[in-house]
Parts: sequence; structure tokens; C-alpha cells
Amino acid sequence: MEARVTAHARFTIADIDKRLYGSFLEHLGRAVYTGIYEPGHPTADENGMRRDVIELVRGLDTPICRYPGGNFVSAYDWEDGIGPKENRPTRLDLAWRTSESNQVGIHEFAAWAQAANTEMMLAVNLGSRGLDAARNFVEYVNHPGGSYWSDMRRKNGRSDPWNVKLWCLGNEMDGPWQVGHKNAAEYGHLANETAKALRAFDPGLELIVCGSSHSNMATYPQWEATVLEATYDQVDYISLHMYFENYQKNPHEYLALSKKLDRYIGTVSGVIDYVKAKLRSKRQVKISFDEWNVWYHERKNDDKRMKEWSWPHAPALLEDVYNFEDVLQVGCILNTFIRRSDVVRIACIAQLVNVIAPIMTAPGGPAWRQTTYYPFQFASLYGRGTALDLDVACPSYDADVASGVSYLDIAGVHDERAGTLTFFAVNRNASEPIAIDLSIEGFGAAKSVEHTVIKHHDLEARNTAKNPDAVKPRKADGAKITAGSVGLSMEPHSYSMIRVKL
Ligand code: AHR
Repeated sequence: MEARVTAHARFTIADIDKRLYGSFLEHLGRAVYTGIYEPGHPTADENGMRRDVIELVRGLDTPICRYPGGNFVSAYDWEDGIGPKENRPTRLDLAWRTSESNQVGIHEFAAWAQAANTEMMLAVNLGSRGLDAARNFVEYVNHPGGSYWSDMRRKNGRSDPWNVKLWCLGNEMDGPWQVGHKNAAEYGHLANETAKALRAFDPGLELIVCGSSHSNMATYPQWEATVLEATYDQVDYISLHMYFENYQKNPHEYLALSKKLDRYIGTVSGVIDYVKAKLRSKRQVKISFDEWNVWYHERKNDDKRMKEWSWPHAPALLEDVYNFEDVLQVGCILNTFIRRSDVVRIACIAQLVNVIAPIMTAPGGPAWRQTTYYPFQFASLYGRGTALDLDVACPSYDADVASGVSYLDIAGVHDERAGTLTFFAVNRNASEPIAIDLSIEGFGAAKSVEHTVIKHHDLEARNTAKNPDAVKPRKADGAKITAGSVGLSMEPHSYSMIRVKL
């Protein structure tokens, strides 16, 4: 099979916000306890944080990390996580039916974020609580001193404010599973009043209002319209979430799901424009896709176990072990975000450690990279700059979820400072290689090309503690530059990163 791709310097989409490569850590399962935090672990630092995990997170160069939830935040009292650890209460977490020891709270997470070289993106509880708890939390985190909550922070050992810019106004408030779930009008009103109060404190905050939990929700996309009409002039982003599953073990359909993601983004972008026009607003709200990932490997099993257990602390939960096929899926998802980077400014892989995550740990033992670590790492490290509007001519197939799904999924990024073009590509075809003719126009001469491949003959191949390198990238040769074009071949069902030095 053959594909022709043209990248032209004049055809661009947007300057990518680096926060497109954000991440997420929730008080859920072993994400925090025995994930990032494990006092007594051989690599633990003075705060009890695992240095081996910090190193792996630093390797992803994820610029923001959303915290503390997720469903967890909708019944979370942030004050439980401050002050002397021995005085912190153990609470029942209603979202995941577990116990929360509160040994990690905002101070510990902030220190970890600094060590991991990432900025905090915080969520307030608009489920069981509301405006008052939210404004107090923001004051605690961001006010220099001389007020009740900021002085409390100082007393608790942190004199400087953390100056967190990004705040989520609750989480998935459209979901009936959420503690304190609301309808769109109720939530829209509460989110708007909370946003006004937070802006009274600091007009420079970046505020994210909840959109739909996924595009299958019965209330989608009316939810977005109602919520945005209530909040449009107070918020900067609307949040979307989507998880990908392959219960049918059908790669053909599974790898077409990013078309559904693309439609979802397009629809919400249309709703944003509709509300903007209706309100005659000058403001441009954008999308924060702050939860996305593959999530299905352990889901049914987890749902069953959660019903049976009795409030354990930090049990293994949502510990999907990703396979090689998921590398292809994550590649297609990230490519979709790059191609939509004019409207999707922020995105967070959900999650970061142990819980549907690219990084896994064994308590007292090693930490390792899941298969999906690599496509995320490549996009985060090399997908910064200007997203290119590529012209792609390649045979396609029809799936249930969408028709005209190109066998070649490709996104391109121009990093002017580094003088590079980087292309991320997935061959969706199970049996045929794709010979790609990549024409580079208007950028000056291509000097060299580097081709990195992730390929395994078994779609089910996984990385585990015992075999952490079963799936990993390798350098390929064979990519050639001739007269302004790069020629290369992609194996069936494979992922490629192609880096061209200009
Ligand atoms: O990431 C796991 C869960 O998925 C989050 O807690 C919730 O927001 C979503 O439903």
C-alpha cells in the first residue's frame, strides 16, 4: 500500500500549547500510595516519594499534573490533607469504596510535582461541597499571607504560595455516579458563582468547567450548551473525557475510535461557537481534554471486586496492563489532539502511575514503563511547536464507528527553534506495509532523517516487572531523503516517529 503525505510550511493548524501533554494523578488505588509515595521504599526521598518513579515521570516531561481527582474529588475535604500527618483523619472514599489515610495532601503533592518537574492543575470539590470550600482552598494555595488560610499554610511549613493557575470546577458533574451529581442548570449556576468568587480573588486564574464525561452520555451535547450558556464569560476551558476500549478484540474497530474522538472535539467546538455567538461574547473558550486513555483490560474485574471489598486502603485498582495494540491506539489519540490543537489546548493522560497509567510500580520493588509510555513520551518531547495541516492521500477502510478511516494516521509538528519536523504515524493495516512518500515543502532542505519504530508481532505483548522491555522503540534504517522528499516504509500494525532535521 502507498501513501503520499505533503507538509508545507504555509499550512499550519496552531502553535501547540505544551499542556497538551499533561497528566493526572488521583487518590485512587495505588496511584498515590505505593505509586508516587512509599516511605521505606529503597528509593524514597526525605518526603517518602519514590525517586525511581520521579525519574520515569521526568522522562515524560509532562508539563502539568491534574490532582486530586477524578471522582475522588467530589467528596474530598482538602483540609484533611494538611497539618501534622499523625492528626490527619482516615476517611471513607465513596467513589472507589476505599479508605483514604490523607498521608498525602496538597503539601506533599506540591513537593512531588516540583521534584517531578511538573506544574499542579488542581480540582475543587463541587459535588459534596461548593463555593466556600473552593475559595478557601484557592486562598490556601495561592495567597501570600496575612489571611486565615494563607497563614495556616505558612504555619504548616510553606511560606510561599504555590501560584497554581489551572483550576477545575469539579469533575464529571454530568455523571450520575458522581457524589453530588447535578443537572446541567444546577451545575452551570454553581460553576459560574464559584468562578466569579475565584476570579474576585484572582482574575488571572485559568478556570475549567465540566463538559461531558464522554460522548455516549445521554445529556451530551445539550449539557455543554446549557453549562456554557451559564458560565461562558467566566471560564477559559470546557473539560472533556474519553476512554477507549476493545472488549471485542477487534483491532479494525478499535483503531478507528480516534475518529469518534475527532467528532466529539468537533461537536463541542461547534457548541462553544454557538454559545459564543448567542451571547455575543468576545471570549474564546477552548477544550481541556483532561482525561483520556485506554481503559478496559481490568474494568469488569474491578467493578466486581469493588462491590465485594470492605474499604481497603490503596488496593490495586484500575491496573490495566497495556499491550502493543494500545501503543497504536495511544498514538492515534495523540495525533488527533495535535491535529485539533487549535481548540484542544490542554489534555491529560489518565492517569500517570499504576492506575490506567504508563508507569507501574511494585510495592517495595521496581518501577517500569508500560508499552504506552513510549508514544506519550515521544509526543511530549518532540510534539512541541507548530502543528502542521498535512495533506494525506492513503487508502482507507470503513468501520462501524466511522467510514473513510485512513490506514495511515499521521500528525506533523514543526519546531522552528530546534529546526526539526517530527511526524508521528500509525499504520492501522494488519497485513500490509505502507510505503510513504513524505514531501517537505517550504521549509528549506531536509538534511537528515531519523526513524524510530515500535512494532511487535503480537498485539497482546505486554511489559511486566519480570519482562519490562518486551515492547520498546528501536531505531530503523531505510528512511531516505531524495529531492525534498522522505521515503520510508511502515510495517503492518506499527507505530513510527520520523524526525527530519532541516
Ligand atoms: O480516571 C478514572 C476515573 O474516570 C476518574 O476518577 C473519573 O473522573 C473518570 O470517570
